[in-house]
Amino acid sequence: MSTYQDRWQTVKVEIDQGIAWVILNRPEKRNAMSPTLNREMVEVLEVLEQDPDAGVLVLTGAGESWTAGMDLKEYFRETDAGPEILQEKIRREASQWQWRLLRMYTKPTIAMVNGWCFGGGFSPLVACDLAIAADEATFGLSEINWGIPPGNLVSKAMADTVGHRAALYYIMTGQTFDGRRAAEMGLVNQSVPLAQLKEVTANLARNLLEKNPVVLRAAKIGFKRSRELTWEQNEDYLYAKLDQSRLLDPEGGRAQGMKQFLDDKSIKPGLQTYKR
Ligand code: COA
Repeated sequence: MSTYQDRWQTVKVEIDQGIAWVILNRPEKRNAMSPTLNREMVEVLEVLEQDPDAGVLVLTGAGESWTAGMDLKEYFRETDAGPEILQEKIRREASQWQWRLLRMYTKPTIAMVNGWCFGGGFSPLVACDLAIAADEATFGLSEINWGIPPGNLVSKAMADTVGHRAALYYIMTGQTFDGRRAAEMGLVNQSVPLAQLKEVTANLARNLLEKNPVVLRAAKIGFKRSRELTWEQNEDYLYAKLDQSRLLDPEGGRAQGMKQFLDDKSIKPGLQTYKR
């Protein structure tokens, strides 16, 4: 069993029965995303990708915050002062994990929003495949309140998940909203009382762990790319993805699933996953 105790300064990773709990770990700074945290998260994602003990990744925060967004001091003020070229690197590392790696990550990802979730936090939130929030969590596009339009890919993340009116309302007013409202708008899948958040998230993760990982990857990436392609391009792309998953799948999941349904009559795929 992999153990990552104290390997990173700003992120904690705990692996338990196939679930990798990735915990942003600067509770005293409300888990604000500093250049160090961003750099470490790139490494965390790369390491967990190759770790066979990590089947599903859950991104959450230590203490009462998911993340208070980009670190206003270390990410903005201190880099404003620094060499301009350094800002490029610091921005690149933020994007690298917050959406480039996370959005098409090779393993399923769930954002478990346990508390404050502001500004820059919306990029990794939406880049995760699924999201569950605590009813008590507080979300906000607070950038307007401290003098910038939403940065990084925050506006794109809103446009991909939330309707036009609601997105602009929160971008333009900076008003906060809770987990229930986030679920109502489609920003997260579900909102549950904080006391149940971990169990509900673990149950969802266990459901995903039962699935064939190669097929799951093809399915989620196929869906995400579909948003950007035309119908014609999509037909080619999605069939290519489907054929690719058959070729890459060491379990031969498609043949297994069909056999169990058509020959053995042991499953109903409409209601359950084939037995792996
Ligand atoms: N960047 C840098 N530091 C932050 C931070 C951020 N985004 N959010 C919180 N912190 C720091 C505070 O400066 C404070 O540091 P200090 O103890 O050295 O003074 C510490 O975290 C605790 O913050 P505090 O404001 O006292 O906590 P709170 O529980 O009363 O309030 C928030 C929590 C999240 C409502 C409040 O910290 C806040 O508004 N943060 C900014 C959120 C934001 O606008 N994010 C968008 C960035 S893109």
